[in-house]
Amino acid sequence: MIPIKDVYGIARMREACAVAASVLHQMKAHVKTGVTTYDLDQLAKQLITEHGAKSACFGYQLGDRRYPGHACISVNEEVVHGIGSLKRILQDGDIVALDVVVSYNGYIGDNATTVPVGAISPRVQELLTVSRQALDLGVAQARVGNRIGDISYAIQHHCEKHGFGIVREMVGHGVGVAMHEEPQIPNYGRKGSGAKIYPGMTLAIEPMVNLGTHKTKTLSDGWTIVTADSAPSAHFEFTVLTREEGPEILTVPPSGAL
Ligand code: MF3
Ligand code: CO
Repeated sequence: MIPIKDVYGIARMREACAVAASVLHQMKAHVKTGVTTYDLDQLAKQLITEHGAKSACFGYQLGDRRYPGHACISVNEEVVHGIGSLKRILQDGDIVALDVVVSYNGYIGDNATTVPVGAISPRVQELLTVSRQALDLGVAQARVGNRIGDISYAIQHHCEKHGFGIVREMVGHGVGVAMHEEPQIPNYGRKGSGAKIYPGMTLAIEPMVNLGTHKTKTLSDGWTIVTADSAPSAHFEFTVLTREEGPEILTVPPSGAL
């Protein structure tokens, strides 16, 4: 069953998503050459606390492991779930994906973006541009009466048209009182397939797009997903509310700039 949020749930989701977006927005400004991914993780911890929220990543359990970071910070070939480290110092030409998931008053907001460090190569810039466009195209399909596969297809089609690889192993998801609720939202699939979209769903739509092969592997830390060919990867994510009038992005920062 896909949870449908009532007026109360939607109000709480708005708050949690506003916090997640504000934290992500403030973190973006700190991405520069010389900063370590540990610094960014500590910043996430501080900002989330200042908002009166909690990191939904910290302590997140998968099997017998608990995620040790406060946000996921994934550089270049790291696709998702990178762990902040003093050894990873950002350099000119890098790209860094920031994924912020917060819990606030019992509800969860989830969003991510990928930021360039200094000057990046034209093809890597294209990776960022196309992945960000794919997110918008996916969100546009989150319309009442459509199906989840319409979101999946729109994302896959756009990315593959530009020669990029769509990650299969990780997917978008419903989000609400839990970080991962039904439905799963793959970034690949067929139009008209999957569950029907009704008003009141809150969906985390999150294309993970590789410059080269779509294939990935997991590092020995048990968390960090990297591309199989070590080529760069981008990740963009919004939490979206489905409404009769059309999809509404909930993870909007105070500035309103997405
Ligand atoms: N946005 C990621 C997701 O939707 C966050 C993972 S949290 C972590 O799965 F705990 F695994 F880091
Ligand atoms: Co997510």
